[in-house]
Amino acid sequence: MPPLACVVLAAGQGVRMKSRLPKPLHEVCGRPMIDHVLETLAELRAERTVVVLGREADQVRKRLPEGVEVAEQAEQLGTGHALMCAAEALPGFEGDLLVTCADIPLLTVDTLRNLIEHHRAEAAAATILTTEPEDPTGYGRIVRDQSGAVTAIVEHADADEETRRIGEINTSVYCFDVGALLPALERIEPANAQGEYYLTDAIAVLVEEGQPVRALVTPDADEVMGINTRVQLAEAERIARERIRERLMLDGVTLLDPPSTLIDAGVSIGRDTVIHPGAQLTGETSVGEDCIIGAGVALRGATLGDGVLVRDSCVISESSIGSGSAVGPFTYVREGSEVGEGCKLGSSAEVNRSRVGSGTKMQHFSYLGDSEVGANCNIGAGAVTCNYDGLEKHKTIIEDAAFIGTNVTLIAPVRIGAGAYIAAGSVITKDVPGGALGVSRDRQKNLEGWVERWRRRRGNR
Ligand code: UD1
Ligand code: CA
Repeated sequence: MPPLACVVLAAGQGVRMKSRLPKPLHEVCGRPMIDHVLETLAELRAERTVVVLGREADQVRKRLPEGVEVAEQAEQLGTGHALMCAAEALPGFEGDLLVTCADIPLLTVDTLRNLIEHHRAEAAAATILTTEPEDPTGYGRIVRDQSGAVTAIVEHADADEETRRIGEINTSVYCFDVGALLPALERIEPANAQGEYYLTDAIAVLVEEGQPVRALVTPDADEVMGINTRVQLAEAERIARERIRERLMLDGVTLLDPPSTLIDAGVSIGRDTVIHPGAQLTGETSVGEDCIIGAGVALRGATLGDGVLVRDSCVISESSIGSGSAVGPFTYVREGSEVGEGCKLGSSAEVNRSRVGSGTKMQHFSYLGDSEVGANCNIGAGAVTCNYDGLEKHKTIIEDAAFIGTNVTLIAPVRIGAGAYIAAGSVITKDVPGGALGVSRDRQKNLEGWVERWRRRRGNR
């Protein structure tokens, strides 16, 4: 088999996005479009992969994975010119060149493999991946002669009425024999509505030279949709999300209301986990088996073990929750927290940059910030760590099996020893040794008959 190189055209200005962000970085299911494309291409294990970028594409350049090369297209003179720039980065390369664009994020590797296979089986100079979408408006049309052979691609802007009635379009995904492509690219002219060097014009040139040009029609038009506007971006997002949900359901995850459940491309979920309506699982979230994710829960880059119960309306962000723990409702676990196994985080509790040991129970309305909490502790309702003195953050350390009473205020830095008890309502400013009782509050006094006396003083109202 001849060697394979891949080219991703990504230097266009993406004017129709009306955005400061380069088009390849617009996200589909929480991932930049270019990442989707490169991830798919990686599966082809091509000898080389070249991305064509404009001069000011530092943001895109920075996130390219190792091994992916960049060809600079200093001026955006069109897709044909972009491919010439890529070819310059591949001097002496002989073999097949797979060309795609950064704005076709839904393309699958199976379709690419079919294209390459077809191209090789036909010993073609060029093979175009085409499709017949419901609405071909805006796409380049595939012109065929009476025998059905492809003769040219005509861009929408340059097409007459009759050509615009053609339903078969160019997806902008091609396979070329480099040897035939290069001389054809040399011959294209910017004589069109946009004054650009169109890659699509190379097709007519090859046909004219008597080179074998083929087309492979792919039945799934959704997969090859090109994203030029935010309306198309939203449509791609909708399709991609549907695919993700379907894949997860087929893998054994229950989604009670699939359309309202938002799941990013980087999310993994174990079997028999049940997800309630309106949940959002984004970033690189991973959820184990047998979990229950309540309504309106947001898991953002969260890692959950098996059998975790997250009740309604919790937010868990860049943190982990161990197996068998129960959280919520309305609980907020913030960046950089690690909650152990079999823990309980009560309603409206908040954990921030803290470690909570296994078996620890944290009751409602409590707050742990910059804390290290051991195993089997009890954090009473309303207990809070005061981790911030207005200038700096300080640590609170609570050792194993310590019992922090209701409404305790722990002023950091402070350490509570193993098994110590802190009396409810105490304000703790000094370390408490293990096994001790820390109390810091006024001793209670009862004034007998006080109510009666007070009422009399006020005239018995
Ligand atoms: C292109 C095709 C059209 C096809 C459609 C499919 C051409 C002339 N037209 O049109 O036939 O139906 O894709 O989606 O090829 N780019 C560069 N440098 C440039 C110009 C563009 O790298 O100078 C890149 C863009 O970043 C983009 C890709 O090439 O990733 C396609 O460019 P775009 O402007 O989106 O072409 P379309 O109008 O969509
Ligand atoms: Ca496009």
